[in-house]
Amino acid sequence: MSFHVTIRSAHRQVETTAEEGDLILTVLRHEGFAVTAICGGRGACGKCTVTLITGEKKRRVLACRNRITADCTILTEEIRGGAILYDAVADVSKDSGNKDLAAAMDLGTTTVVVELIGLSDGSRKGAVAEWNAQAPYGADVISRAQYCAEHADGPLILKRVIRKQTDELLERLGTKRSELKRLFIAGNTIMQHIYAGLDPLPIARAPFTPQAYFIGDEPQEQGISYAPCVAGYVGGDITAGLMASGLYKRKECSLYLDIGTNGEMALGGDDGFLCCAVASGPAFEGAGITCGMPATVGAICHVFRNEDGIGYEVIGGGFAKGICGSGLIDLLGMLCQARVVSGTGRLLGPDEAPEEFSGYLGGDENGNGIFYLTEDRSVFLTASDVRQLQLAKAAVAAGIQVLLKKSGLRADNLDRLYLAGGFGNYMDPGSAAKIGMLPEELTSRIVLMGNASLMGARMALTEPDAEKRLLELRNSCRYIELSGDADFNEEYVEQMFFYEEDDE
Ligand code: FES
Repeated sequence: MSFHVTIRSAHRQVETTAEEGDLILTVLRHEGFAVTAICGGRGACGKCTVTLITGEKKRRVLACRNRITADCTILTEEIRGGAILYDAVADVSKDSGNKDLAAAMDLGTTTVVVELIGLSDGSRKGAVAEWNAQAPYGADVISRAQYCAEHADGPLILKRVIRKQTDELLERLGTKRSELKRLFIAGNTIMQHIYAGLDPLPIARAPFTPQAYFIGDEPQEQGISYAPCVAGYVGGDITAGLMASGLYKRKECSLYLDIGTNGEMALGGDDGFLCCAVASGPAFEGAGITCGMPATVGAICHVFRNEDGIGYEVIGGGFAKGICGSGLIDLLGMLCQARVVSGTGRLLGPDEAPEEFSGYLGGDENGNGIFYLTEDRSVFLTASDVRQLQLAKAAVAAGIQVLLKKSGLRADNLDRLYLAGGFGNYMDPGSAAKIGMLPEELTSRIVLMGNASLMGARMALTEPDAEKRLLELRNSCRYIELSGDADFNEEYVEQMFFYEEDDE
């Protein structure tokens, strides 16, 4: 039996039909609504809430747990606007008459950026960015690979979603795929697999072996090239970014770090790189955090102390709807520094915390602290949120320590710390050091890379020999698999502390 379904977001309304028993999330995905479904529909994240109206009845339900049983209206929010990292290029020239065009693409798990390039002179014609349209299939690469495991046509569906989005982005740039001479894609290994139509699942399961490293071993498609990958979790975004950093030709030893749902890192210089990846989880993208959200309009992106107490900045300047990764790091850094969070990660209750913070604190029924950030108490941090962030920061910090140890170096031996990617650029490195995620010594040696992956993709299209260099650089990377690595396990436990209690 079919039912009539009206889907409404702030941006559009769609009338459609659905079969009895269809999952609401499936219907939303099918109609291309960019809803948040962080856990990929497993009922675990609670972020896919929609308003379901059937007759007179109106209720808030999880889209991934509720089915269509009658004619209905679904009210949903879509991921739009906010902080997507790319160097704005002058006005988009709708120069589709130019037959010498190519496009560089940064294919992120969370965001996608496409830049149009004139091949004859290397000119940048314009760039557009959007949240990855695969968001309704999960916030991180593992959820998306899981979707492919559970649905035989999963890889094909995800491929279609991203290709359709690419076409829409190109259309906004005044061109189409068929008019491009080349499309160069730099993304993590799973995203590149999905784009190329390869099943990403083998990367999500031990021994985490990709089907292709994009060194000519993938099925070739006319006009599309990918940045070479080092391993399942050190992808083309890292090789492209390393090329953009120029580190591979410098006589220095530096750390290159790209933190997203995975923390990918490389340590080295002109002698080659030692690389690894840690599963930092999607906490830094605001996922798995009670009031967490992506860095879109309404997200608290910075938290600071001022003469009135605690202040914060909201993306878009309006009402705070939640808090994103950079805001979470600031908040946690502040709470650690003020000893409102203990070295072991316990969020203190109002009676134990320093007096100036007690007004912000409450407790849950189990005696755990809750820190209320906004006056109306709608945005807050719980003890279990602190725990999630603690796991994520420990993974990143442990990855860094393992690279240092295996290179026989200390943090203060390094020349610079290159931070790539959206989160790396928006977070305050000082706050990241306060929670023990980044070595304190490196906070004064930071180079913000911006969207390094896009930069590398652009270079591959415009600079002679850049693709050859990219391949050489990739071959100079030595990958360390951290799962099961004794040094990593040891460091991970050690790095779980926010600070040494003796510091107090
Ligand atoms: S709870 Fe529905 S997508 Fe996570």
